[in-house]
Amino acid sequence: MIRISAGLAAVALLVAGCGQKADAPASTNPAAADKGQYKTDVAMKELMGHVIDNAADGVWLAQGWLIDAEGTHELFPTDDAGWRYATNAGITIAEAANLLLLPGRPVDDDPRWVEAAHMMYDAGMEAFAAAEARDKERFFDAGGKIYEACTKCHSHYVIGND
Ligand code: HEC
Repeated sequence: MIRISAGLAAVALLVAGCGQKADAPASTNPAAADKGQYKTDVAMKELMGHVIDNAADGVWLAQGWLIDAEGTHELFPTDDAGWRYATNAGITIAEAANLLLLPGRPVDDDPRWVEAAHMMYDAGMEAFAAAEARDKERFFDAGGKIYEACTKCHSHYVIGND
């Protein structure tokens, strides 16, 4: 935020200083301006295995019920640290969805890629909000939505069976 403001201020000064209209400042065309500034060498397989799957586990392993001979055990967080971890995982999933949309990351220009990434974003934010509210049922449902988002993309792009 600070860097953007500083950049805009610099452009304003420059324009005011030379007394001319800037006819096409790069900042009005984010797509063009941003091209090439991302570092996207990490392969999709690594991004999935190390970043996205890890974040999803932060949600999935912190929810549900385990039924055994001794009865039913809740897997939801039981203390502040546990819920904090769950909120972290939810928002990480949401922001990680944006990593899938960086220039060069979508494997094609089929809208299904973007739709699945947006689903993942919404589900991650839902998990984040539910964990913040410490609402177990809602957090559990959000975990299901995250799974649906993963599956939506995988069924087309990995398994090839929509
Ligand atoms: C927008 C598309 C998309 C979404 C959403 C998505 N994935 Fe993936 N995922 C892929 C693609 C493409 C591959 C295949 C990568 C490869 O092997 O080159 C993959 C592969 C994987 C793999 C296998 C990695 C390996 O080591 O072979 C895992 C695990 C994975 N995804 C987890 C997830 C989880 C968990 C989610 C949801 C939280 C998710 N993915 C959401 C596209 C997606």
